[in-house]
Amino acid sequence: MSRIAYVNGRYVPHREACVHIEDRGYQFADGVYEVCEVRGSRLVDAARHLDRLDRSLRALQIHSPMSRSALELVLQEVVRRNRVVDGLAYLQVTRGVAPRDHGFPPDNIRPGIVATARSVDPTRRATRAQQGVSVITVAENRWPRVDIKSIALLPNVLAKQAAREAGAFEAWFVDASGFVTEGSSTNAWIVTDKGTIVTRSADAGILKGVTRTALLEILADGGWVLEERPFRVEDAYVAREAFVTSATQAVLPVVRIDGRAVGDGTPGPVAMRLRRHYFQHSEPC
Ligand code: PDD
Repeated sequence: MSRIAYVNGRYVPHREACVHIEDRGYQFADGVYEVCEVRGSRLVDAARHLDRLDRSLRALQIHSPMSRSALELVLQEVVRRNRVVDGLAYLQVTRGVAPRDHGFPPDNIRPGIVATARSVDPTRRATRAQQGVSVITVAENRWPRVDIKSIALLPNVLAKQAAREAGAFEAWFVDASGFVTEGSSTNAWIVTDKGTIVTRSADAGILKGVTRTALLEILADGGWVLEERPFRVEDAYVAREAFVTSATQAVLPVVRIDGRAVGDGTPGPVAMRLRRHYFQHSEPC
């Protein structure tokens, strides 16, 4: 089956989908994006993803290309046209096409919009979770506005590649004070030896993950002991468990950090329980 993409108002075959060479996303990474999980052919937590898209657009003073309900319809339509049952939907909005000049172009240019969807094998994802993944740490080198889900992802790309070259799945950024911020495309969590779940607060240094927010609600409802605070790499080395969260990975146990086993080196019971809770409680809509 051929894939379909949505590009600036049209549904087109994926292999023919293209944007202008002077799209500011292409020239300046002047745009924002969202990745939404698709489960049972439906978008998971679409409202939160669209809320965050709105915040990112406002932060960069990019006009929204269409109403929120229209954006959701486009996402649902790319999911439908690509017959995605389990997978991901991707939405990207750029400032639009204009002659190359760093400053903003005139206000009347139309933002660029692209949406795609693709299937992900749920069995492969489940196997990864059952085995757990390895993480390496790298120095934080991103700009301070990582709360904006910008398409300017070069440090994240380099960090992920460093992880792959080290045989790991993810890289955790570590700030100048030795605290873990987040992963290159995931939020980072540990479970201390006392059983406290710890994740950095979303005030600074991280993207406020939609999966993270959903999990915080699950933890609050379930009466889990949680601390939203920074943790050091050394805390992570001696943690009982560690895990990462994202729309693409849900809750994914971490079993090695910088080559050291976390706990007994197998996925921890808290992470696995939270993964199950997450699938039960996060509502496709
Ligand atoms: N990444 N931190 C970073 C830097 C991210 O890029 C992401 C998501 C997250 C988790 O956010 P959420 O739970 O909303 O997916 C945290 C997406 C999946 C990506 O870039 O592919």
